[in-house]
Amino acid sequence: MVERRWPVLVTRRLPRVAMDAISSRCDADVWDEQTAIPRAELLRRVAGKAGAVTLLTEKVDAEFLDAAGEDLVVVANYAVGFDNIDVEECTRRGVMATNTPEVLTDTTADTAWALMMAAGRRVTEGDRFLRSRQKWIWGPEMMLGQDVHHKVLGIVGFGRIGQAVARRAQGFGMRMIYYDTFRPPAEVEREVGAEYRDLDDLLGEADFISIHVALTPETRHLFGPDQFRRMKPTAVIVNTSRGPVIDEAALAGALKSGEIFAAGLDVFENEPDVHPELLEVENAVVIPHLGSATVDTRDAMGMLAAENLVTALEGGRPPTLLNPEAWERRAAGG
Ligand code: DGY
Repeated sequence: MVERRWPVLVTRRLPRVAMDAISSRCDADVWDEQTAIPRAELLRRVAGKAGAVTLLTEKVDAEFLDAAGEDLVVVANYAVGFDNIDVEECTRRGVMATNTPEVLTDTTADTAWALMMAAGRRVTEGDRFLRSRQKWIWGPEMMLGQDVHHKVLGIVGFGRIGQAVARRAQGFGMRMIYYDTFRPPAEVEREVGAEYRDLDDLLGEADFISIHVALTPETRHLFGPDQFRRMKPTAVIVNTSRGPVIDEAALAGALKSGEIFAAGLDVFENEPDVHPELLEVENAVVIPHLGSATVDTRDAMGMLAAENLVTALEGGRPPTLLNPEAWERRAAGG
């Protein structure tokens, strides 16, 4: 019997293991550039496909779904965040949408810590300083940063990644507080060792703040001038979630005026652009959305996206499905 193969679009080449897994069951049309696929090209190439593997750089909305047509079964996002996908619209049309949770939790938590340490202890600033080849001599007040150990860590968004960041803080003897609109069971709070605070209280109490919320209309500009004003002048803020959660112009102002001590940013409001003032200040550590960027994790994300894609195409329920209603409808033959 000839095995069925599905036509799918892959909007950027994934790690080899994932491409092999996809190609073993599908005819993959791959956008092979290191730039985001232009919108018109995306709409043209998704037409008639049964599946699409998308990145956070592609908007999956009504226009995309219209262009794809009736054969589209699944959109497998190669990311845990899915603010690029209109999940409701997918559900309405019976298209399954999936993401890649869990496999990147620890790696992203490590990145948040790298940023906290770098921003608090002026690591990248020191690196730039030496590379500028200025004359220097060890001095009692040279490039002083903020202690991380035994300080208060405030986690904003206490899901999987937020909790993983908090667990790492135990080794630093930190006191942990968190804010989220959803409160986990008391055992989770106890095991992680974090106490709930409302956002305003957290802002005033935390020495380090790490953001781990999804981007929604409610979290857009969750951090603006008022929030920076409430923070300690010694505070360090780190964002590995989504850029628009922070009002970047306000952050640049707070960093320049000394309202807060430093920031570590992996994500940006108008990515890939970075607010020019953030590139001018010494107390912002900026990296290009590297939260999950390790060899192992990107392989694991790719394998999970491939599994989601192929399972859905074979008529099964993908392991990390965002809209079970779409699958139920299909399973019921609707
Ligand atoms: C995600 O998965 O949402 C990240 O931003 C990319 O790893």
